[in-house]
Amino acid sequence: MRVVVTGGAGYIGSVVAEELVAKGHEVVVFDNLQKGHRDAVVPEARLVVGDLADRERLRGALRGAEAVVHMAADSLVGESVQDPAKYFRTNVVLGLALLDAMREASIDKLVFSSTAAVYGDPKRQPIEETDETEPNNAYGETKLAFERALPWYARAYGLRAVSLRYFNAAGASERNGERHDPETHLVPIVLQAAAGARPDVTVFGDDYATPDGTCVRDYVHVVDLARAHVAALDALAAGGPSRAYNLGCGGAGYSVKQVLEVARAVTGRDISVKLGPRRAGDPAVLVASSARIARELGWAPTMQSLEAIVGSAWRWMQRRDLA
Ligand code: UFG
Repeated sequence: MRVVVTGGAGYIGSVVAEELVAKGHEVVVFDNLQKGHRDAVVPEARLVVGDLADRERLRGALRGAEAVVHMAADSLVGESVQDPAKYFRTNVVLGLALLDAMREASIDKLVFSSTAAVYGDPKRQPIEETDETEPNNAYGETKLAFERALPWYARAYGLRAVSLRYFNAAGASERNGERHDPETHLVPIVLQAAAGARPDVTVFGDDYATPDGTCVRDYVHVVDLARAHVAALDALAAGGPSRAYNLGCGGAGYSVKQVLEVARAVTGRDISVKLGPRRAGDPAVLVASSARIARELGWAPTMQSLEAIVGSAWRWMQRRDLA
């Protein structure tokens, strides 16, 4: 298939593009390079530098395509609370503009990058797709708003869409790893501290109702995430229905303190830690049940240990002389 990947120069998008190319798909990356990196785009893919607001460029990129993987978004939880207008515009308004352009181009298959943030502060763990969705930040709200448009577009216009609700993406492929500026995510921050690129790591609260008091998250390897997009596209191509799927590693998840321990073991370096206050909007525990996608699409994570996930991120940093 010819597949357009919006946001395909970003952390997860670039690895999705790699996986699609590896599976023989023809890939067009559509990215405005505001946060993405030109050199993250696998050479076999065609890069169109453009913004979703630019209808003509988007139209050109979609011409002849059979499916879209939509990953272009604003995705900082804290910023979304400070500036919700930015998030509603990018994630909802421009997302709907993409759906319009897809209709015009007669493209009826979509894989959408959604998030665990649609669940807010969940009442039970592990979280299933049928559990209540009640976002506690504008980022999650905008991702959910877009998801909720999809069944209506399916009914009226024949669009078929798979929403993938990522839990905590981490790790690196051979080629691509996480490099946000500013960096807010725990694993790269911890590894930057190990590398001496920052003095220490601040743990955001140790008084949560978890075994060691720090927040527990479900870390899933970015290459496993990318493989789920390929599986979702295959299912849509085979005539499969619209669905939403959680993507996590299962198990009990890992606390912030456990991530620090594993990072010390993987890198062999000391990592200084400071204790800070809780970060607003952080749920204590977010762990996925990925049973639905396992059952329906046969997807399962292949790199479940945090050592493997953190190790791949560390080796990527070393290859790039960042560690
Ligand atoms: N953390 C720290 N110190 C840091 C950075 C993070 O203690 O310097 C903690 C956070 O408080 C949290 C955990 O590490 O408990 C993980 O934080 P991340 O920022 O790496 O990830 P989040 O769980 O906050 O965010 C992820 C995705 C978001 C998504 C969110 C859903 O990155 O896109 O899950 O809650 F919205």
